Amino acid sequence: MRTTRIVEMLEVTEAAALAAGRWMGKGDKDAADKAAVEAMRTAFDHIDIDGEIVIGEGERDEAPMLYIGEKVGAGGEAIDIAVDPLEGTNLCAYGQPNSLATLAFAPKGTLLNAPDTYMWKIATGPAAADVIHIDASPTENVRNVARALKRPVEDIVVCILDRDRHSDLITEVRAAGARIRLITDGDVHGAVATAIEGTGIHLYMGAGGAPEGVLAAAAMRCIGGCFMGRFAFRSPEERARAEKMAHCDIDGVLDMDCLVNTDEAAFIATGVTDGEMLRGVKYFGQGSRTHSITMENATGTVRFVETVYRAGSEKFWVRMD
Ligand code: FBP
Repeated sequence: MRTTRIVEMLEVTEAAALAAGRWMGKGDKDAADKAAVEAMRTAFDHIDIDGEIVIGEGERDEAPMLYIGEKVGAGGEAIDIAVDPLEGTNLCAYGQPNSLATLAFAPKGTLLNAPDTYMWKIATGPAAADVIHIDASPTENVRNVARALKRPVEDIVVCILDRDRHSDLITEVRAAGARIRLITDGDVHGAVATAIEGTGIHLYMGAGGAPEGVLAAAAMRCIGGCFMGRFAFRSPEERARAEKMAHCDIDGVLDMDCLVNTDEAAFIATGVTDGEMLRGVKYFGQGSRTHSITMENATGTVRFVETVYRAGSEKFWVRMD
């Protein structure tokens, strides 16, 4: 996969973030999401790829755009694409931190086709990548991460989605002595932040969307961290859908090889609202500014990219030529 592809794909998340950012704080998460989806869909059309959406906005009959199986791009290299045009729709709608426009891409057939179900997840950055496991207890995982980072458990921060289903997890992490960053939404950020110095998050645990799990796993694959998952089906229909879509043991541990089976994955996220990892979109009359992170496994690179779009340059990022 060419490195220049990163820049082309970066314009796709930037387009989605610039569109969604206009809806920050307006209290309308569906409008924010729609704006991001439409901008992302348009931006894909100008890239010379033969892309297939493997993680998208839903099944063909429930999503008008960026549905699973949709082909995007102007033709060329065959790639799998996972998208979440607006990760954290509520975060954007209410002006809360850490909403992102994000995507991952990889050679065809290498990203897990995860259905829209839940997934138990655990993630941490490279320094503790070898010492966590989805089947270990939260106490063991917290202690192992503390040991790997050479600090007391009390200095470890675990990010967990604030949900009733996590009450036992939260109780155990507190009893183990670690601190907790409870988040209302946005577990792609929660997982990826464990690998980014300065975010103050060392471990992510809990159940969230399975599609978001594949995106986070792609990032962790690129950056040398660890992500593991296990499907948590809410209905027989979800299980049946997984049996059809996901070519793996759907009851087993979803490890990195199962989720992202390649050394050529790439991950990109552009901030929509301000957060610990990325700054949100700024509009300043004469233009707008985005802040993104790109990660590429093949070259081992992580880039933080700030882009200024001068007023009127929108016609270039959606390339209406
Ligand atoms: P949306 O961007 O679709 O609103 O999802 C946000 C999110 O918080 C994800 O980050 C997370 O994986 C999932 O929702 C958790 O689902 P639930 O809100 O059902 O617990």
